[in-house]
Amino acid sequence: MIVLDRVSKSYSRKGKNGGRFALEDISLHVAPQEFVVLVGSSGAGKSSLLKMITREEKPDSGKIVVGGIDYDDLRRRHVPHLRRKLGVVFQDFKLLPKRTVFENIAFALEIAGEPRGEIWRVVPKVIDLVGLTGKERSFPSQLSGGEQQRVAIARAVVRQPKILIADEPTGNLDPRHSWDIVQLLEKINDFGTTVLLTTHNMEIVSKLRQRVITIEDGKVVGDVSKPEFTVGYKNQGYMGALPGEAVQSMMRQKYRPKFPVAPDDGPTSSVKHIARKVAKRAKNAKEVVASAATRRRRK
Ligand SMILES: Nc1ncnc2c1ncn2[C@@H]1O[C@H](COP(=O)(O)OP(=O)(O)OP(=O)(O)O)[C@@H](O)[C@H]1O
Ligand SMILES: [Mg+2]
Repeated sequence: MIVLDRVSKSYSRKGKNGGRFALEDISLHVAPQEFVVLVGSSGAGKSSLLKMITREEKPDSGKIVVGGIDYDDLRRRHVPHLRRKLGVVFQDFKLLPKRTVFENIAFALEIAGEPRGEIWRVVPKVIDLVGLTGKERSFPSQLSGGEQQRVAIARAVVRQPKILIADEPTGNLDPRHSWDIVQLLEKINDFGTTVLLTTHNMEIVSKLRQRVITIEDGKVVGDVSKPEFTVGYKNQGYMGALPGEAVQSMMRQKYRPKFPVAPDDGPTSSVKHIARKVAKRAKNAKEVVASAATRRRRK
């Protein structure tokens, strides 16, 4: 789903000649429906990496393929098509202050040219998904930070993107609301959306039990698989703290991830598994998952 092969990026012209790289020789692969947490100190290159995927920035060298689209072949006019596969959420919400909750979310569909009937059908469902039913007519200034972030997430997922990118979405929230937001991202991931999350909050990282990629000085220095995808250390409680680099590299070598998903976008047994799991939780989950699977099959 997302492949980066030896991607480097420098914001200064001198970069290649000894200047500083924001990203240096980054190679990684994210499977469909994976949940990946990106960590690393401030300035490490996390947002730069995400901007490579959203095509806000171009790499100096290296290859990027997202959802089957090779960025080397990507023309400027194709970028909107690419962005439809992506939903993006930021630390500062970026909501339209003079529009209500409903309008903020509907706006994403309006600019995509969706008919009014479709907007009125879909938006209430997404508002329900993020737990904001009853707040449709509120303006952003009348909402708490956590609620505003829920609106931003609803807006990001209303077009049913295959990938949701959340760059420090809990940066402005207290611990309880941060965890609520992260759980919402997990719920969206359960519906089959690939999620990339950056955070500085180590408590979230250890509670989440998802794949963790550590970036420092523009390089990947750690990549620890989701515990349930690996053998052997599931019950050893290592996620209580982030393992040191030595432990991480040992895990990488010894316990290769066994992703329960196919390396392409096709429907897999894991989709059925997710459908079963989610159907128990939400009333309309079956319908959503089935339509997602149908869309994938058509592509
Ligand atoms: N538009 C830009 N122009 C010049 N330099 C930039 C630009 N964006 C980022 N950088 C530099 O690239 C490096 C990586 O920045 P990036 O924003 O990717 O870090 P980050 O890991 O997201 O940090 P944080 O956790 O603080 O958000 C930093 O040295 C930063 O100063
Ligand atoms: Mg950043």
